[in-house]
Amino acid sequence: MKKRILTGDRPTGPLHLGHYVGSLANRVRLQHEYETFILIADVQALTDNYANPDKVRDNVRELALDYLGVGLDPAISTIVVQSLVPEIAELTVFYSNLVTIARLERNPTIKTELAERQMEDNVTYGFLGYPVSQAADISFVKAHLVPVGEDQLPHIELTRDIVGRFNRTYREIFPEPEALISPFSRLPGTDNQGKMSKSLNNAIFLSDDPETVRKRIMSMYTDPTRLRATDPGHVEGNPVFAYHDAFNPDTARVAEMKELYRQGGIGDVQVKKELVGAVNAFLDPIRDRRQAAAQHMDRIDEMLIAGTRAARAIARETMREVREAMHINYFPNVDV
Ligand code: TRP
Repeated sequence: MKKRILTGDRPTGPLHLGHYVGSLANRVRLQHEYETFILIADVQALTDNYANPDKVRDNVRELALDYLGVGLDPAISTIVVQSLVPEIAELTVFYSNLVTIARLERNPTIKTELAERQMEDNVTYGFLGYPVSQAADISFVKAHLVPVGEDQLPHIELTRDIVGRFNRTYREIFPEPEALISPFSRLPGTDNQGKMSKSLNNAIFLSDDPETVRKRIMSMYTDPTRLRATDPGHVEGNPVFAYHDAFNPDTARVAEMKELYRQGGIGDVQVKKELVGAVNAFLDPIRDRRQAAAQHMDRIDEMLIAGTRAARAIARETMREVREAMHINYFPNVDV
């Protein structure tokens, strides 16, 4: 039997190049090798958007389109709407006994997110606990591998702890999943202020049109110490070159430009123009597939319904095993 992948995204906005290099590329590459489940994590999105459910709702189908755009193939990958698999919520409740509040409060990703949202002084139970729910996401299909961006590592570590504790306390039913991190997992934003992120307004979205991409790249941060094209420039820490490394398939030309840049032999404008070409060439087939899929939104709905149904069948079976392992299967032969 093939091993399983489960990963996912919160439907809170369009996916960008950072998502692509961090996780989407790995998913697309591995979907033939692993039985792949992709979760549209609307329940998790509600933990900090509970007062804004329409924002989450509006992004569910958009996220599905981004998935098809990058080349996730619904014939082999199962795309699942989290809130329609209530077994995940059940498993979350049982998991919540296996983790301490102190452990959740130490999670560095949670700390960063609380700071970004200025929520440190009124942390909800739901937000603090979303990594527990994420552990349930990953384990309801008994996933072995979780392709994610680096920021998700603390959550995968927590998942391993929780399922390890479950297995030791009750019975061994869950594999301890591994994270799969990409080498480009920290794609900087166009402003070089930290990683690419929608909320920081430094992102290039997979669905951006060519002109938007051109404008974004031509106004990108480069080497602030360089005033003229003839000044020697810095390649390291320069996001323009980080993007060339990630998206320009002509590695010989990228190496040549780096050399010239270091010597003051090529201008920022030229390096950016070539990047515009490379990124747009990379995005063209993604935009085409996305647009084609958007012509048939009824098929998107069918895909989500079918994927969610398939996942639910697995979730029911997992919960049957969980109840048995926990000795709370009081009426094993009856559908109550
Ligand atoms: N926390 C992830 C993010 O913010 C989204 C997510 C939800 C996820 N459930 C998951 C990722 C399960 C991997 C596995 O991007």
